[in-house]
Amino acid sequence: MKFFLDTANLDEIRKAVPLGIVDGVTTNPSLMAREGIAIEDQIRKISGIIDGDISAEVVSSTAKEMIVEGRGLAKIHRNIVVKVPLIPEGIAAVSALTKEGIRTNVTLCFSAAQALLAAKAGAYIVSPFIGRVDDIGWPGMDLIRDIVTIYNNYGYKTQVLAASIRGPLHVVDAAKAGAHIATMPLKVLHQMFHHPLTEKGLEEFLKDHNRAFQLAGA
Ligand code: G3P
Repeated sequence: MKFFLDTANLDEIRKAVPLGIVDGVTTNPSLMAREGIAIEDQIRKISGIIDGDISAEVVSSTAKEMIVEGRGLAKIHRNIVVKVPLIPEGIAAVSALTKEGIRTNVTLCFSAAQALLAAKAGAYIVSPFIGRVDDIGWPGMDLIRDIVTIYNNYGYKTQVLAASIRGPLHVVDAAKAGAHIATMPLKVLHQMFHHPLTEKGLEEFLKDHNRAFQLAGA
């Protein structure tokens, strides 16, 4: 399973990269707005921090405009994946961009029917938002399971990226369901490390070590 960081914040990416377990970054217009920097400039900076897929989202509304905007984003760096919303204009743009060899991440996916459209258009990635489905009381993880089943049935190469992740259990359950990628806030990545028995066990190991070797004058 690939781990992506769901952020446009340079400091968060800089903190995560040294772990050696982050494979890419996803951004969206809301995450970009928080940073307040022009998307092209921020994406260029991100591509200088991490060598992995970086999703940059179009904000145009027609297929023609999305295609032009997507071409521009793809030119920023070879790692750019153009993020496009799962609407008819977006799917038309994905079909065209795919034919030009530009990789796309189809976002705001909330149903298996939508995910089928993304795969048929040749999307490189589809992003089902499990957290937002859970937020309205529906089983978000069923979405991942259904999409993975359908994609396997037909051999679609589109990668399933579990998005809108709220905690470590989402990552684990998405992995069980066969998602290719999980994109998560830095906070969730850090939460994945924590278990009280690990922390307690290490404390005891070090206490025993120090007691033995410090007493021995070692
Ligand atoms: O960036 C796409 C997705 O991960 C955002 O999820 O629900 O936390 O805004 P959310």
